[in-house]
Amino acid sequence: MKTDRIYLLSFLIFLFLSCSKQIFRTNGEAIYQTGKNLQGEKLLDKNASRIKIATNCKACHGKNGDRMNGISIRFRVLSNPNYYPIPYTDSLFFRFIDHDLKSNGQKANIGVIWKMSDPDKRDLLDYLKTL
Ligand code: HEC
Repeated sequence: MKTDRIYLLSFLIFLFLSCSKQIFRTNGEAIYQTGKNLQGEKLLDKNASRIKIATNCKACHGKNGDRMNGISIRFRVLSNPNYYPIPYTDSLFFRFIDHDLKSNGQKANIGVIWKMSDPDKRDLLDYLKTL
């Protein structure tokens, strides 16, 4: 009887973990965490990218956008003049995604190139604003 319950419990935990991985509240969150939008389109341009194994933002920037030393991509940091002499605006963020240019106009040269529709970029930006 007891072992049955343990089996049932572990099954439920397994079910919960395997499902919770795939549930995203917003399109922006899905893009950030998986590199795919909710329609399942992969947004990393593999032909143009040098780095082909990191296919989403989370892989490098971490769950909250601040895993890298000294670089946080939470939008409140990107748009803060204390961190960026030329703070990111919405349109400078879109330019970064489209042309790999930082807010100061320098080439970012990170090795990952994206092809995102305007709504996908907007959703991703809205997500960075929640971090
Ligand atoms: C392969 C790892 C990698 C992936 C994947 C990645 N980044 Fe980055 N990102 C970096 C590195 C490294 C830097 C720092 C570059 C520098 O300072 O020159 C950076 C910097 C940035 C910056 C700030 C640039 C600046 O002006 O300092 C933004 C904004 C950014 N990333 C957004 C994103 C978003 C959004 C995604 C997902 C769509 C993403 N990154 C995916 C590695 C990555």
